[in-house]
Amino acid sequence: MKKYKIAVLPGDGIGIDVTNAAMKVLDTVGFSDVVEYTWGDIGWEFWKTEGNPLPDRTIELLKNSDCCLFSAITSKPKEEAQKELVPELQKKGIVYSSPIVKLRQLFDLYVNLRPCKAYPGNPLNFRDDLDLVVFRENTEGLYVGIEFHPVPEDVMNCLVENHPKAKRFAETDLNDIAISTRIFTRKGVQRILKASMDYAKEFDYPTVTVVEKPNVIRETSGLMIREARKLIQNYDGKELWETNIDAMCMWLVKNPQNYGVLVASNMFGDIVSDLCAQLVGGLGFACSGNIGESFAVFEPSHGSAPKYVGQNKVNPIAQILSAKMMLDWLGEKEMSNKIEDAVAAVIAEGKVRTYDMGGTSTTTEMADAICEKIKGM
Ligand code: NAI
Ligand code: MG
Repeated sequence: MKKYKIAVLPGDGIGIDVTNAAMKVLDTVGFSDVVEYTWGDIGWEFWKTEGNPLPDRTIELLKNSDCCLFSAITSKPKEEAQKELVPELQKKGIVYSSPIVKLRQLFDLYVNLRPCKAYPGNPLNFRDDLDLVVFRENTEGLYVGIEFHPVPEDVMNCLVENHPKAKRFAETDLNDIAISTRIFTRKGVQRILKASMDYAKEFDYPTVTVVEKPNVIRETSGLMIREARKLIQNYDGKELWETNIDAMCMWLVKNPQNYGVLVASNMFGDIVSDLCAQLVGGLGFACSGNIGESFAVFEPSHGSAPKYVGQNKVNPIAQILSAKMMLDWLGEKEMSNKIEDAVAAVIAEGKVRTYDMGGTSTTTEMADAICEKIKGM
């Protein structure tokens, strides 16, 4: 029996090109020898033909796997999604919802880990000395999906009765108000904070920066800051820095080299991680992991980039570094280091560059160059 069972979900569009590239690298580093891969279905094709972009058989596959290497899916606005369903499924009231959000919630993958490290020689780097690691809460906050429009009367009455600031909305037509809730739980904030602080301890980052807005969003951001202040007491020698999301965006452009581990709720983490990713090369380099207690899904931050489908053109490094993160999570440090060193060496050399780096190399050429470096180690 092989050591690991891994589900591979390439998804749509360029997801397929970059997954093939990452698989080549995993083969070359010797990882594929110890793995049974099963390729699974996810994405637009399955929405159109089955009315479900995340079929039950894929969920079953994931339940029977150690972890998952995912790439990207296509999703479209509500009306377009309806139109593209096969005729048999039209007008049945089936509503599209994002399969990746569903996966995060279903498997309680509460950490969205996004390392943003500059590899020297990348012409897209803002600076060469950046090493930012974003911990984004992945299951609650503003993306929890509890929203109202029109607002039910009971909900509005409850707000008006319970909160003095809701009174000024009491007379507004319920069709003319929309409410999206931002829900934090103590358990939710504690576990993302703990994950970020454990990481700072393990990898020797001196600071953990909480990125919230407690001066305005007093209850939710406030809960997070209060818990952070308590928790940091368990981490001798680590400093807790507190910044507001707006100021943080400014600081990250001004002196990003001052920061290390960042931790934020779902939406602020989403925002700040895109900013951090762009400082070190953008979507072609942005890798991520959705991590829970016993399961994880690794994926690049980019989408299916329909513009580049079938052109073998996009940068596979984000997917390759996501595969590297998977090896870290599985404890395969030696292979993981080889992949990272090979990526760093190809970038430093500067001979093979995809279009986003100002070059003309293909997806395959980039993967091959990384494989050659691994073979030479
Ligand atoms: P996108 O990330 O697919 O592409 C935006 C642009 O970024 C591309 O046109 C390209 O210029 C660049 N880019 C993306 N990946 C790249 C790579 N590996 N190398 C070089 N350049 C790269 O975002 P877009 O166009 O907004 O969305 C396209 C589709 O992807 C939509 O259907 C969207 O819903 C979906 N999407 C899926 C995500 C996921 O699977 N988690 C995340 C983001 C978008
Ligand atoms: Mg993705």
